[in-house]
Amino acid sequence: MEQKTEQTTQVDISVLNQAFRAFSETTLKFQEAHAKLEGRVTYLSKELAEKNSVLRRNVVKLERTQKYLNNILESISDGVVALNLEGNITTFNRAAQTITKFSPHEVINKHYSDLFSKWHKGKCDTHTIIYDITFSTGHETVIKNKSGEEVPIIAYSSLITDENSNVVGIVVTFNDLSKIKQLEDEIERAKRLSALGEMIAGVAHEIRNPLGGIEMFTSLLERECASDERKKRISQNIIQGVQSLNKIITEMLTFTQSFSKTEFQKVNLIDCIESSLGFSCHELRKKNINIVKSYNMAQSVLVMGDVDQLRQVFLNLLLNAGQAINCHDGAIQLTCFSHQRDGYGVVKITDNGCGIVPEDIEKIFDPFFTTKAKGTGLGLAVSYRIIEAHGGKIRVESKKGEGTSFIVYLPLVQEV
Ligand SMILES: Nc1ncnc2c1ncn2[C@@H]1O[C@H](COP(=O)(O)OP(=O)(O)O)[C@@H](O)[C@H]1O
Ligand SMILES: [Mg+2]
Repeated sequence: MEQKTEQTTQVDISVLNQAFRAFSETTLKFQEAHAKLEGRVTYLSKELAEKNSVLRRNVVKLERTQKYLNNILESISDGVVALNLEGNITTFNRAAQTITKFSPHEVINKHYSDLFSKWHKGKCDTHTIIYDITFSTGHETVIKNKSGEEVPIIAYSSLITDENSNVVGIVVTFNDLSKIKQLEDEIERAKRLSALGEMIAGVAHEIRNPLGGIEMFTSLLERECASDERKKRISQNIIQGVQSLNKIITEMLTFTQSFSKTEFQKVNLIDCIESSLGFSCHELRKKNINIVKSYNMAQSVLVMGDVDQLRQVFLNLLLNAGQAINCHDGAIQLTCFSHQRDGYGVVKITDNGCGIVPEDIEKIFDPFFTTKAKGTGLGLAVSYRIIEAHGGKIRVESKKGEGTSFIVYLPLVQEV
C-alpha cells in the first residue's frame, strides 16, 4: 500500500514537471511575442507621429494656399460668382459685393436667378442652367443691385471642372459698366452739342442783324407816336420782345462761342463762387433763401481757368437752385474743397428745391431743354461746355421733391 502511494507521488511530480516546462516555454514564447509586439507598437507610434506631423504641415500649407487663393479672389476688381450645378451661388467675392451692394450671407446658397434674373429662363435642370449661363465672350446685360437699380455689366462665364474633367459648377466674372456708359453718354452729348452749336451760331447771326433793324425802326416809330398812348405802348411791347429775343441770342452765342479765346489763369474757386453769389444774391434774397457755406474763406482752391466763364457757370447753377426752391425754408448749401489725390477742385451746390425727375436728368444739359415757362434751356448747356473746355466734369444728383446737387470738378493747379 505504502509502495503504491510512493509510485503515485513520483508520477504526479513528473507530470507537474512536464506541465511546468510547457508553461515556461509558453511564457517564453509569450514574452518574445510581447517584445516583438512592443517593438512594432513603438515603430508604428513613431510612424504615426511622423505621419501626423507631415499631415499637420500639409494642413497648414493647404490653409495657406486656400488663404492665398481667397486673397486673390477678394482682391481682383472683377465680380466673381460661382454656382453649383443646381444653380445655387457658392462663392461671391468682394468686387461682386461692391457692384451689387449685397453681402455674401444674402446671396450664398440662393438661386442665381435672384441676381441674374435676365439669364433665367424658368427651368432649373442642370443642362438648362449650363446652357443659359455659359457664354465665354463678353455678354452685356444688367444686374439688379440691392436697391433694385439696374447696373450695366459685361459678364464672362466658364465651366468649373474637377480633376476628372467632370463639370461641377459655373463661374461668372463681371465688370461694372456704369462709368463707361456714363462716359459714352458724355461723348454722345458732346457730339450732339457741337453739332447743335454750329447750327445755332449760323442761325443766331442771321437773326441778330434783322433784330437790330426792327429795334431801331420801332424806336423811331415810338418817338413818332409819342402823342398816341396806344401806339406808343404797342411800340414799347415790340421793343421789349426784341430785347428778350436779343438776350436769348446772346446766350446762344455764348454757348457756341469758341473757347479758344479763353484766357486761362490761376483762379481761386472760393473767390469765384463768392463773386457769383454777389450777382445772384438779389434773386435769392427775394425768396428768403438761406445760404449755408461749408468752406474756409481763408483757404484757396486754385484751378486754371477763365474767371468770367467760371463765374457764369456758378451763377447759372445758383440761379437754377434759387428757381427750384418754392418753399419757405429754402436753403442752398455751398461746398468747395481741393481733392488733392484726384487732382480736382470740387464745388458742390445743393438746394432743397423741387428736384428733377429721373427721365429729365439726361436732358437737362441739352440746349433748349427747359421746364420753366420763361426759361431758355441754355444755362446748363453753356455751363457744361465751359466746364468741359476747362478739362473738368459736372455731375448732378437729384431726387424729385427733395432737392438737387450739382457738383463741378476742375483740375487743380499743378504746384511745381
Ligand atoms: N437746381 C435745380 N433743381 C431742379 N431742376 C433744375 C435745377 N437746375 C436745372 N434744373 C432743370 O434743368 C432745366 C434746364 O436748366 P437750364 O439749362 O439752366 O435752363 P433754364 O433755367 O432756362 O430752364 C431747368 O428747366 C430745370 O428743369
Ligand atoms: Mg437756368
